[in-house]
Amino acid sequence: MKLCMIGTGYVGLVSGVCFSDVGNTVYCVDRDEKKINSLNNGIVPIYEPGLEEILKKNYKQKRLIFTTDLKKAVLNSDIIFICVGTPTKKKTNSADLKYVFSVAHQLKKLITKYKIVITKSTVPVTTGDKIEQILKTPRKKNLVDVVSNPEFLREGEAIRDFIYPDRVIIGTKSKKANKIMKSLYLPIIKKTSRYYNTSRRGAELIKYASNAFLATKISFINELANLCEKTGVDIKDISSGMGSDQRIGDRFLRAGPAYGGSCFPKDTRALIDTGKNFNTDLSIVKSVVKSNDKRKILLTKKIATLLNNNFKNKTITFLGVTFKPNTDDMREASSIPMINFLNKKNCKIRYYDPTGIKNEFKNMKNVKYYKNISSACLKTDLIIIHTEWNDFKLLNFKKLVKKNKFKIYDMRNIYSPQKMKKSKISYFGIGR
Ligand SMILES: NC(=O)c1ccc[n+]([C@@H]2O[C@H](COP(=O)([O-])OP(=O)(O)OC[C@H]3O[C@@H](n4cnc5c(N)ncnc54)[C@H](O)[C@@H]3O)[C@@H](O)[C@H]2O)c1
Repeated sequence: MKLCMIGTGYVGLVSGVCFSDVGNTVYCVDRDEKKINSLNNGIVPIYEPGLEEILKKNYKQKRLIFTTDLKKAVLNSDIIFICVGTPTKKKTNSADLKYVFSVAHQLKKLITKYKIVITKSTVPVTTGDKIEQILKTPRKKNLVDVVSNPEFLREGEAIRDFIYPDRVIIGTKSKKANKIMKSLYLPIIKKTSRYYNTSRRGAELIKYASNAFLATKISFINELANLCEKTGVDIKDISSGMGSDQRIGDRFLRAGPAYGGSCFPKDTRALIDTGKNFNTDLSIVKSVVKSNDKRKILLTKKIATLLNNNFKNKTITFLGVTFKPNTDDMREASSIPMINFLNKKNCKIRYYDPTGIKNEFKNMKNVKYYKNISSACLKTDLIIIHTEWNDFKLLNFKKLVKKNKFKIYDMRNIYSPQKMKKSKISYFGIGR
């Protein structure tokens, strides 16, 4: 099939690359010329394990085309995916749909024969109706089917998630569109996953409900971790004890910092906003957002406590600053408010991240990027293990720090408190 992905970010690029790998011709369009130029020069603009290899293979075979020319891409495609960002609108909870609607208006001028237009971007329930209103003028009534196909891939595991998804959700009442979508996904759904055809509004809401539920799980275990700290219980025992109940499941049940990233924070907020628009109080989701916001403050305060509220001449090392491992994505990473706070207190902040230097900290006078773990840790006062990259799982801290007194704040509970105690290292985890 001939596909067009509009928006070549984490979702559009991965989906486009994976669809091309099963034999489709895919036009990946972006308005960001720099991004398209790098892709055409074989440079992948995001860190996503495994992506580069598949991309290069399909680019060589001419099944992948990177372009800023939307018109050419649309005219040559039968199926058009909208994969642009839907960030939170400033000072509100609502999803900013300006990129989505701008694409819809552009498409309106370009569609002259039957196309399926799909929202892969996460959009609030009824957005598909609005896109349809834009595209389906009386003259073009039968020229387009607007379908919702939310994406569930996780950054860092995106390729695997796309090729072996737990489910593929197609929201449409059009039999024609559903048949075409099913054949597009056939190479994927043949493997393990389930294919659900539901209403368009249903598909839109499934995505938000899923993300809000996962955010709830994380916030739940994070609050329990606070209780564990007060009662001398290890949160890891709670996670294993609870998680082995199949009705609960052990995934997303590990205590840590506030959840971040490009999805959970904005999607929980947007769901609350949708509830408000439809006069429905989503009190659980509201509590989750509040709990997560509080957690950012709580963990920052804990850092201050570990420094005895004495910030003068203190060196603090962050190991990992992205919101999770195996991605370079810094959107709403919990390291940002922590580092902002410590920077204001004039601490010397060092950070090492396997994905390199971060724009977020470029203009902060007290924050420095270090090229390797050992230089970042040398003679430091406090090591904060913020992201659980594999690189941080087997470190010999005494050898790295080379001084007697230092503390470790392990926000991912990677290390054993008992072993640390034996090594006479001042070690603190989460909920233990
Ligand atoms: N990142 C994830 O893990 C993930 C997972 C599932 C769903 N989603 C959803 O998918 C959507 C995209 O997320 P993302 O992380 O890939 O975003 P992103 O910011 O990485 O990429 C969006 C891209 O769209 C481009 N763009 C914006 N307007 C455009 C236009 N008019 N024409 C062409 N290109 C345009 C931007 O230049 C950018 O490259 C969001 O709605 C998000 O919630 C993201």
